[in-house]
Amino acid sequence: MRVLGIESSCDETAAAVVGPDGVASDVVYSQVIHADYGGVVPELAARAHVEKIAVVARQAMEALGGEPPDAVAATAGPGLIGAVLVGLSFAKALAAGWSVPFVGVNHLEGHLLSPTLEPDGPAFPYLCLVVSGGHTSLYLAHEVGRYETLGQTVDDAAGEAFDKVARMLELGYPGGPVVDRTASDGNPEAVAFPRPDPGGLDWSFSGLKTAVRQHLQRPERASSPDVCASFQAAVVDCLADRVLRAAETTGVRRVGLAGGVAANGALRARFAALDLDVTVPPKHRCTDNAAMIAHAGRLRLLAGERHPLALGARPQWSPSEPAEPRR
Ligand code: KG4
Ligand code: ZN
Repeated sequence: MRVLGIESSCDETAAAVVGPDGVASDVVYSQVIHADYGGVVPELAARAHVEKIAVVARQAMEALGGEPPDAVAATAGPGLIGAVLVGLSFAKALAAGWSVPFVGVNHLEGHLLSPTLEPDGPAFPYLCLVVSGGHTSLYLAHEVGRYETLGQTVDDAAGEAFDKVARMLELGYPGGPVVDRTASDGNPEAVAFPRPDPGGLDWSFSGLKTAVRQHLQRPERASSPDVCASFQAAVVDCLADRVLRAAETTGVRRVGLAGGVAANGALRARFAALDLDVTVPPKHRCTDNAAMIAHAGRLRLLAGERHPLALGARPQWSPSEPAEPRR
């Protein structure tokens, strides 16, 4: 089964084809307009998706040499609702025009299943740390469609903390990649930032963000590279600590890393060095992409799932809930 996947939940317009041999095409257009505003502007994101979606999808479809796919999958949430609606409506129209099955995919399930797209990806059950701009959650993936939330952030997401620290240092947007780059010239032990621990398998990053702000107000503040490296080290310590704790309590040693923050160099290095069976997908499969949506949709379709073209978009949606809200 060859599936066209469409992703438009935030500021990436993406389309990909995934089949039995893996990813046949994977096209991502990253919207650049938001940099001027210091963050994603929802309406501008939706408008930019409208302009790019057909071009991106046509490019992804070249892999099928003019044939339609066997099914279409699209992100139905969670995300910026106007942005989700563009890709979802576009995907439904394609499915209707080609008379092929349609399935709506939870964006977080896309991230969650992305490690299984790798050649040596984890078998079920595995732990998956999803660290993105909007989410920091640890799941135990039992099987396709059955995900147990073990822990999550009680305040800011890790990516949000990266973006806010970048803003404090006036490094631009998106903050994650620039903090990552700036940190490479810094000393991770220069500033002893706190490692907040709300208990259990949860995280808290707002205190760490405040500690960075307070440090920057001091006359003897460290250089930006040292601040970035020290902040990043604190985030990585917190993330690794809960994953190790979860592996101990569940006995599950297979771990996947997913979401935009998983593109971070220090985080990737730390996870690769853990005494666990860790899959760290390539960076372009950690940040938003449609290959993960096509893959998740394909697994759902192979399990017999189909959605009506009346399926709605959802701004909030836990991957452990079914696609259509129970009435
Ligand atoms: O998964 P993603 O592309 O979109 C969401 O679903 O949110 O994640 C975006 C987040 C942003 O907060 C961005 O700053 C962060 O991922 N990010 C990074 C890096 N690349 C992207 N954070 C740290 N280091 C990076 N290299
Ligand atoms: Zn994402």
